[in-house]
Amino acid sequence: MAIVFKIRKPEAWAAAGADIVQDALRQKPSAIIGFPTGVTPLPCYAELRRRVERGELEVSRLRCLMLDDYLGANDGTPSSYQWLQRELFLPMQIAPDRVLRIPTDPDGIVEACATFEQKLANWGGCDLMLLGLGANGHIAFNEPGAEVGSRTRAVALTPETARSNAAYWGGRFVPTRAVTVGIGTILESRRIALLVTGAAKAGILQRALNDSIRAAVPASFIRLAPEAIVLADAAAAASLPATSQDGLS
Ligand code: PGA
Repeated sequence: MAIVFKIRKPEAWAAAGADIVQDALRQKPSAIIGFPTGVTPLPCYAELRRRVERGELEVSRLRCLMLDDYLGANDGTPSSYQWLQRELFLPMQIAPDRVLRIPTDPDGIVEACATFEQKLANWGGCDLMLLGLGANGHIAFNEPGAEVGSRTRAVALTPETARSNAAYWGGRFVPTRAVTVGIGTILESRRIALLVTGAAKAGILQRALNDSIRAAVPASFIRLAPEAIVLADAAAAASLPATSQDGLS
C-alpha cells in the first residue's frame, strides 16, 4: 500500500486535482482516465476546462472511462453519461469513440458488463481512476458489502445513495439500480485518486483510511491499490491523524 496524502486549502484543492490529471497526461498523452460524477469533482472539472481553453492542457488523445451509470438509463433520461458530457466530454471535445461507456440496458447486462471489462483490458487498462467518496463509504456505486474482487455489474442502490443522486436531478428522478465498475476493476488501475471535500465527509474518510479494510466501508479497499492518492480539503481531512496532515498548503 502506498497512500499519498494531498491536503489542500479549499482554494487550492481544484488545482491540485487538475494537476493529478495533467501529470497523467504528461506521462502518457493517450492515458485512460476514469472520471466520477457527483458534486465533489465539479471544481476540478471546471479547472480542467479552463486549462484546456487556455491551451495549457492537451486532451486530444485522452481516453475517458466511465465508472458507473443508472441501470436502464438512455439518452432521454438522467444519466452519469449526460453529467460527464456536460462537464467534460462536450467542452473538452472528447469524441464518443474516446469514451468507454458503461452499459445500462438491463437486457443482457451481464454479458455487456463482461464486454465492457474486456474493452477496458483491450484499451490497455486504466492509468488513473478518480473516485468520489459516498457518505456511506461507497466508491463508484460499490455500496457497503461490495466484495474486494467484484467486477463491473448491476447493483441496487441504498436508499441514502438513491436520495443523494435524486438531488443531482432536482428530485425529479430517483434511481434505484445502477451499473458500476467493481472493486476489483478499480484496484487494477495503475493509480487511484480519491477526491474528498467538506466536513460531512471527514468521519467516513477517517474510517476508510484508519479502520480495518472491509466490505462495510468499500473505500477502505483503496488501501490495497498499487498507488493511491487521497486529495482532501482541510475540512474533509480534519479527522485524519496528524501524520497525514503534512501536505496542507
Ligand atoms: P458527491 O458524491 O461528490 O456528490 O458527494 C460522492 C459519491 O457519492 O460518490
